[in-house]
Amino acid sequence: MTAAPSPPPPQDIVLVGASGDLARRKLLPALYNLSREGSLPAQGLIVGLALEPLGDAAFRERARAAVAEFSGTGLDETAWSAFAERLRYLPAAVGAYERLATMLKQPERVFYLSVPPSAFAPLLDDLRRHGLAQRAVVVIEKPFGRDLATARELNRTLHRTVPESRIFRIDHYLGKETVQNLLVLRFGNTLFQRIWNRDVIDHVQLTVAEEIGVDDRGPLYEETGALRDIVQNHLFQLLALTCISAPASFGGEALRDEKVKVLRAIRPVHPGDVVLGQYTAGRVGSQPMDGYRAVAGVAPGSRTETYVAMRCYVDTWEWAGVPFYLRTGKALVTRRTEIVLSFRDVPLHFFRNTDIGSLEHNRLTLRIQPDEGISLSFSAKRPGPRVVEQPVRMDFSYGTSFTSQPAEAYERLLHDVLLGDHTLFIREDETEAAWTALEPLWQTDLAVEPYPAGSAGPTAARALFPGWHRLEHHGPHPETP
Ligand code: BG6
Repeated sequence: MTAAPSPPPPQDIVLVGASGDLARRKLLPALYNLSREGSLPAQGLIVGLALEPLGDAAFRERARAAVAEFSGTGLDETAWSAFAERLRYLPAAVGAYERLATMLKQPERVFYLSVPPSAFAPLLDDLRRHGLAQRAVVVIEKPFGRDLATARELNRTLHRTVPESRIFRIDHYLGKETVQNLLVLRFGNTLFQRIWNRDVIDHVQLTVAEEIGVDDRGPLYEETGALRDIVQNHLFQLLALTCISAPASFGGEALRDEKVKVLRAIRPVHPGDVVLGQYTAGRVGSQPMDGYRAVAGVAPGSRTETYVAMRCYVDTWEWAGVPFYLRTGKALVTRRTEIVLSFRDVPLHFFRNTDIGSLEHNRLTLRIQPDEGISLSFSAKRPGPRVVEQPVRMDFSYGTSFTSQPAEAYERLLHDVLLGDHTLFIREDETEAAWTALEPLWQTDLAVEPYPAGSAGPTAARALFPGWHRLEHHGPHPETP
């Protein structure tokens, strides 16, 4: 995460698993956009490696279609020609690594492993055996294991071939502009410094709600579930950024050092503080949606959770005793990612003998997506002879304050990989600390509550915490519950 962008040094990029969905939807369009902006290295190839027996021309055709559909900027013929010149394809057949070794001309190279984790070990061995691992940078996607033991095993496998300093673990939430803005909000404004702790904050809610179902990812999702898909990574990263103390500097290892302190301080989650759910058939907006168990590749009696609500605690000096309520789910009534900090009550209610009964908590809402922005809600007196309190809001919205469109998360993160900047990537100790907090849950047979697609999740979540910020509210600005 650099203060000013600079062109990356010459390097080759190898997309392993180049015919997959991630390459099509995210990686190729992101690389094209970087190329268009002049943010790719001046020299270097982009080599697609995958099992399919394609040639360069067919791969370019696919890449072109992917760019046209997913780049968000359309396809500019001049920009496309410059980008397409770099593209090569290599079928992952016998002799592929020998050919790769002769193709790659730059001493620096990035290997983006967009393949299942079970393929990592043989792949890394191949790179080592063919002399390709020296000075190689390896980029991997979650899942970084499925519990603490497998995460440690994965880290050992990686470290046999590449040191930690050349591993980039991607959590695309850290590439989101509004997530990075959390750091500027917290450490660029005196206003928030003194109030960002247990003295003033009553509780915090973190929500990653999705309208989409599991669709065509059934077999993969059966192995994952919402705890591993979203909580261990995206939600815990948001929690870490909400709770960190000011890093000694911006960049380098300082931010990750602070995050790992928070992740290690998450008290192992008590199974009684967790509600799991699974969606059944329903309607999301005007669209009917089948239940999770009807998704292709999902077992008819599956107990995989598509929803999680949980309470957890961060046992640090700053946050001791403050409950953090986390929730995520598929097929919910709305798509919304937000962090809501609720402030403590006033010490004395001067207005108790007026029409103001109890006051609302002051609340700071960080809207990460959609309708990105920040709002602060507080009490005001409704005009008129009676003293009647009404919650009002001060609102900042990205859409109205800034005209430029932020780069897509993958674009931002790929650029950081090319610059060798680790700030927005997950370190080995972070992922292990996050798994440690969830360990008690693997030893417990938790009930999975059904909820209809298009609802706000299982009703049991309300029993865990009645004060959830309502998801049902439609329109751009969530209002009071
Ligand atoms: C991915 C999960 O990491 O994040 C998906 O595997 C989820 O299940 C996605 O849909 C959500 O990302 P975003 O950027 O749409 O919030």
